[in-house]
Parts: sequence; C-alpha cells; structure tokens
Amino acid sequence: MTHRIAVIGGTGPQGKGLGYRFARHGHDVVLGSRAAEKAETVAAEVTERLASVEGAGTVSGAANADACADADVVLLAVPWDGHDELVGTLPLDGKVVISCVNPLAFDKQGPSGVPVDGGLGSAAESAQRLAPDASVVGAFHHVSAVTLWGDADYLGEEDVLVCGDSLEAKEVVMGLASCVTGREGVNAGRLRMARQLEPLTAVLIAINKKYKTHSGVKITGLSGH
Ligand SMILES: NC(=O)c1ccc[n+]([C@@H]2O[C@H](COP(=O)([O-])OP(=O)(O)OC[C@H]3O[C@@H](n4cnc5c(N)ncnc54)[C@H](OP(=O)(O)O)[C@@H]3O)[C@@H](O)[C@H]2O)c1
Repeated sequence: MTHRIAVIGGTGPQGKGLGYRFARHGHDVVLGSRAAEKAETVAAEVTERLASVEGAGTVSGAANADACADADVVLLAVPWDGHDELVGTLPLDGKVVISCVNPLAFDKQGPSGVPVDGGLGSAAESAQRLAPDASVVGAFHHVSAVTLWGDADYLGEEDVLVCGDSLEAKEVVMGLASCVTGREGVNAGRLRMARQLEPLTAVLIAINKKYKTHSGVKITGLSGH
C-alpha cells in the first residue's frame, strides 16, 4: 500500500532524507516548510535525485499545514525548540503522525537529552497531547540524515525502533521503515518509550564524534528479522 506522506520541516536534512527514502519506494511525499517556496526548491532537488528510480513516488513542496491536507501520514521533522507552537497549528486529526524529534542540548561536555515534562514526557507524547485525534508514533530517531541522503540502497545494518499506543498506526510505520532499512521496523512498545528512545540519540552523537562515523542502532535476538 502506498501512502501520501507530509514531512513537516521537510527542508531540513532529516525530513529531506526520509522523504527521499519514502519516495524511492513509491510513496507520494509533500515536503513542508514555513515558506512554501523553500519547500518547492528542496522538492525539486529530491525529484531530480529520483529521476532514474523506476516506480518512485512524486515529491512536491508546500507550506506545512497545506502539506498535511491530503496526507494520511505526517512526519514531524522539526527541532524541539518551537515544536509545540508549530504542531498545535497543524491539521492532524485522523492521521498517522510520526515523530523523529529528539530534544537534545549541547554544552562543553557534548550532547545530552533534554528532559521533557520533568522526565515524564517526550516530544512524541507532546505531539499526541496537542493532536489527540491523531495516532502518534515515535520512529526514525536514530537514523542519521547523512546516511539517509547517502548512496546505499538500504541502511541494512540498522533497525528502526517504533513506539506508539495504536498498533494499527505502528504497523503502518513499521512498514515504512522498510524503505530505509530493507526490513520492517521493530515494535519497541508504547508511546512513552519515546522518553528513552529520543535521548538515546545523544549517545549516538557522542559516539559519532569519538569515532568519526554515523552510528546507528541494531537489535539482536529477534528471530526472522
Ligand atoms: N539531522 C539528523 O541526523 C537527525 C537524526 C534523527 C532525528 N533528527 C531529528 O529530526 C528533526 C529535524 O532534524 P534536522 O536536522 O532536519 O533539523 P533542522 O534542519 O534544524 O530543522 C528542520 C526544519 O525545521 C524547520 N524549522 C526550524 N526551526 C523551526 C521552528 N522554530 N519552527 C518551525 N519550523 C522550524 C526548518 O524548515 P523551514 O525553515 O523550511 O520551515 C528546518 O529546515 C529534529 O527534531 C532532530 O532531532 C535529526
């Protein structure tokens, strides 16, 4: 089944990279921006990259709220700063909403996770609170934008961890993960697991700095995965 996927903040490296991967696999993607023209420019760049990919979906650009209009899936790919103000304005009712947002801070010691709601919340849970009639799913927190835009057909050595309270929505996103890794995402539990998944990215960034790489996450012990 193909989806129409709006990417909020789709002009940034993470949204652009995921949008590219989804469109490579036949999904129609609308990159969103606070400025429609900026989104159209990035959409043209992604479209050009997909020119030789048989069966690719379309990629277009629009203002964030307009991008959501006909989408059944919406990916939030914006910074944590300003997240709530933006998400509260989007028409998300009835949609599967994916959050890959990592609330992180950086200081002299490097990256760290920013506690949300005193440690009892997460960006994904904030999105669910702001859009109670959407089904919010946390996923793609640990895939690097650089790798997503890279030349490998799949990020075959990585897993996408997927958390959410709606099994139906989670299954949609676990399926979309195969556009990135070549296999289904891993069901990582309820939406509140985003409290653990989001700050884990700080660990990956610290590893990236030390080892000059783009590290990812792989789960062992899953038979048939
Ligand atoms: N980069 C990565 O490797 C990576 C990996 C995993 C997860 N993530 C997560 O994915 C999200 C996006 O990452 P990114 O690196 O692509 O971020 P980014 O480049 O900083 O931001 C993405 C887009 O968000 C929009 N934006 C920026 N500030 C905003 C604000 N205050 N209000 C509304 N929109 C705003 C901008 O688009 P317009 O100016 O066009 O509106 C920007 O192009 C973040 O939450 C990050 O934690 C990133």
